[in-house]
Amino acid sequence: METRKIGNQGLAAGAIGLGCMGMTHAYGTGDEAESIATIHRALDGGVTLLDTAEVYGPHTNEELVGKAIRGRRGQVVLATKFGIVLGSGASQLDGSPANARRAVEGSLRRLGVDVIDLYYLHRRDPAVPIEETVGAMKELVEAGKVRYLGLSEVGVETIRRAHQVHPISAVQSEYSLWERGIEESILPAMRELGVGLVPFSPLGRGYLTGAFQSSSVFVAGDFRRSLPRFDDAHMAANQKLVDTVTAVAARHGASPAQVALAWVLTVAPDAVPIPGTKRRAYLDDNLGAVNVHLTAEDMAELDRLASMVVGDRYPPALAKTAER
Ligand SMILES: NC(=O)c1ccc[n+]([C@@H]2O[C@H](COP(=O)([O-])OP(=O)(O)OC[C@H]3O[C@@H](n4cnc5c(N)ncnc54)[C@H](OP(=O)(O)O)[C@@H]3O)[C@@H](O)[C@H]2O)c1
Repeated sequence: METRKIGNQGLAAGAIGLGCMGMTHAYGTGDEAESIATIHRALDGGVTLLDTAEVYGPHTNEELVGKAIRGRRGQVVLATKFGIVLGSGASQLDGSPANARRAVEGSLRRLGVDVIDLYYLHRRDPAVPIEETVGAMKELVEAGKVRYLGLSEVGVETIRRAHQVHPISAVQSEYSLWERGIEESILPAMRELGVGLVPFSPLGRGYLTGAFQSSSVFVAGDFRRSLPRFDDAHMAANQKLVDTVTAVAARHGASPAQVALAWVLTVAPDAVPIPGTKRRAYLDDNLGAVNVHLTAEDMAELDRLASMVVGDRYPPALAKTAER
C-alpha cells in the first residue's frame, strides 16, 4: 500500500487506516477476538494508522487497541483523542489544559505505550479558548508524550488559531460521497496551511456499502438510531445513492464499499481515510479499494450524489458540537 503524508510535520501512514471505534462503541456488540484479529490483519496488509479515542467505550476501545498492538508497536501510527467526557448521562466537552494533562496519562496507560503518535482534540470546547487547549497539547509534545497534534470536526477559524500555537498535522472530519461539507472552506484552508486530512466515516457509517436498508437492523443503543439520515424515510430516499455506487462497482467487478473508498482516495490524494470495521472480511474488502481505479466518468457520476442526499447528518445537539 502506498504511504501518504499527513500534514507537513513528518507524519505519514499507509493510504488506508483503520477506525477501531465500532469494535467496542456506537455500532452494536463487538467480538474481542475478531476485533484483535482484524487489527492484526490490517497491520499485515499495510495499514499503519489505527484510530481510537478516550471516549469510545469509554476506555474499552483504547484497552482493546492496546492489547492488539502489544509487540507490534513499531508498525503502528497510533491516533487517539480527548476532549469528550462521558459523565452521568449526556457527554460533555472538556478542552481544558487540566483535562488534556489528565486524559493523556490514561490513554498512554490503556494503550500500553510511552508515546501517542497523533493526539487529537475530539471536539472544540466553546468554553475554552482554542489557544489554551492547544497550548496544553503543545506541552504534551514537548514532554515527549505525543508526537503530532490533530483536531476533529473544527472550522477554519479554529484551525488557523490552533496552528499558530503549534503546527497541526491533521484534521479528522467526516468526509465521504454523501458528506462533503468540508470542501468549500475547511479543506482549502487546511491545504493552504499544510494540515493533513483524515476522513472519518468514509463509508457513510456503513450506509454507502448497501448493507443497511432499514433502521431495524440496528440493535438498541446503536448510535445510528439517533442520526436523522438513518431513519427509515431518509434511508429509503437515499437508496438511489447506493444504487449508483453499486452500479459503478459492478462495472469494476468491485464492491460498493471499495468504490466509496476509492472515491475518497481519488478525490483527496492527500488524505488517509479510516474506514471502520470489526471484522476481517470487511477489512479485506476495504483494502481492495486501492486496486479500484475510477475513471473520469465514474468520478463525475459519483460527484453528483452529494447534491441528492436528504437528511441531516447529526441531530441538533450534536450538530452544535461540530463546527460546520
Ligand atoms: N472524530 C469523530 O468524531 C469520529 C466520528 C465517527 C467515527 N470516527 C472514526 O472513524 C472511523 C470510521 O468511521 P465509522 O466507523 O463511523 O464509519 P464507516 O467507516 O463509514 O463505516 C463503518 C460501518 O461500515 C461497516 N463496514 C465496514 N466495511 C464494510 C464493507 N466492506 N462492507 C459492508 N459494510 C462495511 C461496518 O460494519 P462492522 O462494524 O459490522 O464491521 C460499520 O457498520 C471510526 O471507527 C472512528 O475511529 C471519528
